[in-house]
Amino acid sequence: MEFSDVIKYRNSVREYSDKAVEEDKITYILECARFAPSHMNKQSWRFIVIKNKQIIAQIAKTSLINRWLKTVPILIIACADPTLSATRNNIDYYIIDVSIALEHLILAATDVGLGTCWIGEFNEEEIKKRLEIPKRIRVIALTPLGYSPGTKGLVETITTTLLRSKKRKTLNEIVHYDHW
Ligand SMILES: Cc1cc2nc3c(=O)[nH]c(=O)nc-3n(C[C@H](O)[C@H](O)[C@H](O)COP(=O)(O)O)c2cc1C
Repeated sequence: MEFSDVIKYRNSVREYSDKAVEEDKITYILECARFAPSHMNKQSWRFIVIKNKQIIAQIAKTSLINRWLKTVPILIIACADPTLSATRNNIDYYIIDVSIALEHLILAATDVGLGTCWIGEFNEEEIKKRLEIPKRIRVIALTPLGYSPGTKGLVETITTTLLRSKKRKTLNEIVHYDHW
């Protein structure tokens, strides 16, 4: 896909078909995450790829607003090791490292026709306990991965309407030149 098409077609997918995701596509998107930039090239990101339906359902249950995750074919947990990071100007770089890597993964998924959705609302403590994630590791975000069914169901219709998810601020609203 052309890069501009990848940017245009990426959107949050909250309903998935049962179609299995090919292993080579999973490897491709993880490879794209691996090549992300990171503070001092320390690559503080770690990913957990969950295919086990029972575990996915248990994790979905820990979120108030993302219960719809319970039927997704694959769930990816994006984690960070803060010991491979630094803080400058009160900004923790491990959050940035992982966010860039996850967006690489998400754009790569779009490129090969797969749906994703940034998930920021989850119960970190519960996820860490269930997945036996070491204490020092932080869970930064999740994303489901799979094929969109092609038509919008109830969850998708409600959320896209509520969030007006295709609407973006204009450049005039977000860009300053030479000073604020
Ligand atoms: C940091 C972050 C956290 C988000 N958390 C959630 C979430 O918990 N649940 C959800 O359904 N969508 C979540 N989203 C998706 C946004 O709602 C979505 O990106 C936005 O409405 C724009 O829609 P689009 O992705 O379809 O362009 C999150 C997005 C980001 C970047």
